[in-house]
Amino acid sequence: MDAKALKVEAARAALGFVEPGMRLGIGTGSTANEFVRLLAERVARGLDVVGVPTSERTAALCGELGVRLSTLEEMPELDLTIDGADEVDPALGLIKGGGGALLREKIVAAASARMVVIADDSKVVATLGRFPLPIEVNMFGLRATEIAVRRAADALGLSGPVALRMAGDKAFVTDGGHLILDASFGRIPDTRALSNALHAIPGVVEHGLFLGLASAAVIAGAGGIQTVYPVS
Ligand code: A5P
Repeated sequence: MDAKALKVEAARAALGFVEPGMRLGIGTGSTANEFVRLLAERVARGLDVVGVPTSERTAALCGELGVRLSTLEEMPELDLTIDGADEVDPALGLIKGGGGALLREKIVAAASARMVVIADDSKVVATLGRFPLPIEVNMFGLRATEIAVRRAADALGLSGPVALRMAGDKAFVTDGGHLILDASFGRIPDTRALSNALHAIPGVVEHGLFLGLASAAVIAGAGGIQTVYPVS
C-alpha cells in the first residue's frame, strides 16, 4: 500500500471514534483531508455532527463537502478532535505543524475531551525530532526571537539550523498572521524542557510539540491498523 492509501485507512479507522451528535475538532493536512472526505460521506448518509476546523484550508474542504461547521467561540468545548501528525512517539507526544496550522490545532486539541491522531507508520519514532520542529513566532522581533530560540535550545544541548519557512519567495504566513521557524535540532530527549523553554520566549506564539494531548493514535501500516494508547 502506498502512503496515501495508508492515510485513507487510518482516517477510515478513526471514524469508529465518531458518534452521532459529537462536536468534532477537525485537523489539517493530507491525512486529516482523507478523514474529512470519509466523514462527509457519512454526513451525506445522515450522520449528524458539527465540526470546528483547525485551518482555513480545512474549513474550505468541509464547506465544499457539506460537513457542518461551527467555531470555537460558539462551541468552546469539543468531544473529540481527529488530526494528523508529523511524528508520534510511544507516549503519544507529537510533532505537528508541517502544514503550518499548529496554533489552531493545539487550541482545538486542548479544547477537546479526546484527541485521536491518525497517521501512517512512517510517522512513528522512538524519540521526537527527526522532523524539524515548527515554531510559530510573531512577526515583530523575528531576529531577536530566533536568537532566543537558539539560546534556549543550546542550554538544553540542542543545536542545528533554524530556518524561516518560505512559500515561494515570500515568508509563509499562518492563518493567525504569524511566521514559522523550522528548527532542525535532531532528536529531542527532553521534550517537556524544550516546550517550557520555548514558551518562556515572548516572541514565540506556540510550538509544534504536542505533549499529553493525544489520547490515542490510529496508525496504518502494511500489516493493518493499530490503535495505540500513551505509554508513559
Ligand atoms: C498541519 O499543521 C500539521 O500539523 C499536520 O497535521 C501534519 O503536518 C500532518 O500532515 P500530513 O497528514 O499531511 O502528513
